[in-house]
Amino acid sequence: MLKRLFSWFYAAAYDLFNGPAERAGLREQRRDLLAQATGATVEIGAGTGLNLPHYPPAVTRLALIEPDPHMSRRLRSRASRLGRDAEILDATAGQLPFPDASFDTAVVTFTLCSVPDEQAALNEITRVLAPGGRLLFFEHVRSADPRIAAKQDKIPFPYPLIGCHPNRDTLAEIEASPLAVESVRAGELPKAPQIERPMIVGTARRPASA
Ligand SMILES: C[S@@+](CC[C@H](N)C(=O)[O-])C[C@H]1O[C@@H](n2cnc3c(N)ncnc32)[C@H](O)[C@@H]1O
Repeated sequence: MLKRLFSWFYAAAYDLFNGPAERAGLREQRRDLLAQATGATVEIGAGTGLNLPHYPPAVTRLALIEPDPHMSRRLRSRASRLGRDAEILDATAGQLPFPDASFDTAVVTFTLCSVPDEQAALNEITRVLAPGGRLLFFEHVRSADPRIAAKQDKIPFPYPLIGCHPNRDTLAEIEASPLAVESVRAGELPKAPQIERPMIVGTARRPASA
């Protein structure tokens, strides 16, 4: 019951809470990453749709995966407000409802911290990407500073309620997956709590042989 109530509140307040970070440069970083999206594109964990304004005309099909009904209601209204033609699907990263090799681009932004199993999600992303297709990722990650990592390991309130693991080494997970990392930049999220600040942004490709 508390979890259900909190998930309604989290979705309702998501854009408000993220506003300072978006205005302090996160929006531009989303735009720069998504400028690389092309062809048939799938975004996993699309939330309230903060990426929607940034998809370039080179995107010919846009499928948005979002399992949380409170998030997906907001996602639908943002897509309709922006006149963005998108398929919005209730599914999870571990079981994407598409045939193999359906997409040229996959996108995850602040989603791999929330999935139950990162390798399962990355294997599924690899499966639905065509050989040579690319994953665009932007995630908050485990700190290289052991004092901050120790705080992340405590997973303090409210992170357990939203299913977020701020202590994940997501770059190592992508490197351990069938995807080949092409580019990555580490940095800090603006205006974020200390344990959410370390971030990575980059691209990884599905090799022709994977
Ligand atoms: C922190 S929000 C990020 C939303 C959006 N990507 C953004 O950049 O603002 C994490 C999102 O991942 C979704 N999510 C959680 N578990 C998931 C799963 N197993 N598969 C797909 N999405 C999931 C949540 O519902 C939520 O919308």
